[in-house]
Amino acid sequence: MTANLSSPLVVAIDGPAGAGKSTVAARVAARFGLLNLESGAMYRAFALKAIQTDSDLDDREELGRLAERTRIRLLPAPLGNRVFLDDVEVTKRIREPDVTAAASRVSVHPAIRQWMVSMQRQLGASSGIVMEGRDIGTKVFPDAQVKIFLDAAAEVRGQRRYQQNGPGALPAESVLEQLRERDRRDRTRAESPLQPASDAVIIDSTDLSLEQVVARVEAIVSERLGAGD
Ligand code: DC
Repeated sequence: MTANLSSPLVVAIDGPAGAGKSTVAARVAARFGLLNLESGAMYRAFALKAIQTDSDLDDREELGRLAERTRIRLLPAPLGNRVFLDDVEVTKRIREPDVTAAASRVSVHPAIRQWMVSMQRQLGASSGIVMEGRDIGTKVFPDAQVKIFLDAAAEVRGQRRYQQNGPGALPAESVLEQLRERDRRDRTRAESPLQPASDAVIIDSTDLSLEQVVARVEAIVSERLGAGD
């Protein structure tokens, strides 16, 4: 199938935490010369602002007002994105556990999601992108030419996260427990819950290596582009 390339190519990669989306997205973006955008980093940056301002993570009105005085920018870099909150770089800080948990909580609020979706659409308006997240194929870019839903067994995702965190961080059981909690919240929220788009290609990476997943996604993009390699 040849993609309709009258508009810039959009590759949407959705899936739960620890499925390997970020690494796969970075590799695929580099291979095809696309901008790599991590939508989760935007929710994380806003969650950090809520933490810094001691805001109530369950108060949608307070968070809505906070959003009006928040500026978030993503700068694509070779490995992931550099992230700026009100012009201060927060790339490392937003990966810490308190922000991770808060991001999942602030992302349930419809007004926050609408604000994020409109920023994300603007980011993808002018050039080809790979955007990863939870609702990219279902909500942000429902017309994306390529939609991938990357999944894996929770135990395997937890183990990968544990290894990424390195020694001295949380024990493996706590990592798995937090991941399950985040999965539950991301999958059951009323607004844009994590679920595959009806036209997404589902890849279960439980028994696949990173190289195998990247190869599959690259083959799908090539096919859509009509490049055939
Ligand atoms: O992908 P991540 O772990 O950086 O995402 C952090 C949180 O942000 C995740 O638990 C749910 C939320 N999120 C979302 O609701 N929609 C997205 N498109 C991306 C992330």
